[in-house]
Amino acid sequence: VARCLKGALIGAGNIGIMGHLPAYLDKDGIGGGVEIVAASDLSENNLRELKKLLPTARAYTSTEELLSKEKLDFVDICTPPNTHMSIIGMAVQKNLHILCEKPLAPTIEDVSSIREMVKNKKIVFFPCHQYYYNPQWKIVQDALNKNEISSPFYARFEVFRLNASMGNPSWCPSWRVDPTQGGGIVTDHGTHLMYLASSILGPPVAVTAKTRKFRKDKYPVEDTASIILEHERGISNIFLTWASSHRGFNFSILTPSCDVVVKDEFVAFMKNGESRKVKIPDNLSKSSTHKNLYPELMENFFTRVENNDIQMDFFEEAAISAKCVFATYESCSKNKRVEIK
Ligand SMILES: NC(=O)c1ccc[n+]([C@@H]2O[C@H](COP(=O)([O-])OP(=O)(O)OC[C@H]3O[C@@H](n4cnc5c(N)ncnc54)[C@H](O)[C@@H]3O)[C@@H](O)[C@H]2O)c1
Repeated sequence: VARCLKGALIGAGNIGIMGHLPAYLDKDGIGGGVEIVAASDLSENNLRELKKLLPTARAYTSTEELLSKEKLDFVDICTPPNTHMSIIGMAVQKNLHILCEKPLAPTIEDVSSIREMVKNKKIVFFPCHQYYYNPQWKIVQDALNKNEISSPFYARFEVFRLNASMGNPSWCPSWRVDPTQGGGIVTDHGTHLMYLASSILGPPVAVTAKTRKFRKDKYPVEDTASIILEHERGISNIFLTWASSHRGFNFSILTPSCDVVVKDEFVAFMKNGESRKVKIPDNLSKSSTHKNLYPELMENFFTRVENNDIQMDFFEEAAISAKCVFATYESCSKNKRVEIK
């Protein structure tokens, strides 16, 4: 039976319009069997922009009103993290499947409440952990799956950015650097590296971290973080900054069989002075919307929806990443190692 799913885009800001919508508009891809029939956003201007791209969508400035009027199978939540809990709550009431942007939520209490809302419900919850789908990571994951490299014991990730990404100008562009709404680079970017690290090194056990505001003139939140995560099977070291003079994403992984060194342009498998390099034509650091990474992520979400695959594994992955973020801040403020429970 051909797929025929109807959904609503909740939040027509930057990632909604530039990251998610292109996948739905591709009628040879996801958009072949999935239709966005409605969208909500707090800005009329953003809704007008959305209607230019998707004239058939009904536009709402109230998510509550949208959910009360539309007949849907799923919602795609592209709003800031401090709104996720209430939107998820409303979607669960309507038994809608949920695709949700990262990070899951700004507090541990929100994470627990969301778990209570979604567990034991017949809905799929799927976080936007799209770094799994970047070409470099897929090469490494493929080598691990095929046992070409053995299980890693160490990973180091480095994210260099010139600035914090801004939200769209029609709403509240600075929410990401507002301590009451977004948090700093750990909240905004840390999540991605925390689930990647945990996926290869096992559940995180403890964190020791330092954050700094090197650009006090620009941001009231931390712009740089150096994080050591202890995992069940090894250690990860995560460096994040919005205070860099270049944009880049590098990582390296040590395994008993070889080292894997990954830059924007290549993945190199290195052993005893020999290196096998795989070139990457399209790199992850080019754009903050990661437009090319969403179709595969969404395909996995919709496959789960079709198969009624309601496991909580992806929810728990988002919850663990959120816990790592909170423990990172606690480690900084208490100046000590913090266990992650
Ligand atoms: N996965 C990624 O790599 C990635 C990249 C960018 C953004 N994001 C995430 O996507 C989310 C949005 O980020 P953005 O950059 O698009 O921000 P943005 O500010 O450009 O857009 C957010 C939009 O949400 C709308 N909004 C707020 N509350 C709402 C509500 N209750 N109902 C409906 N709309 C509401 C606002 O009007 C705004 O237009 C954040 O959680 C962010 O962390 C993820």
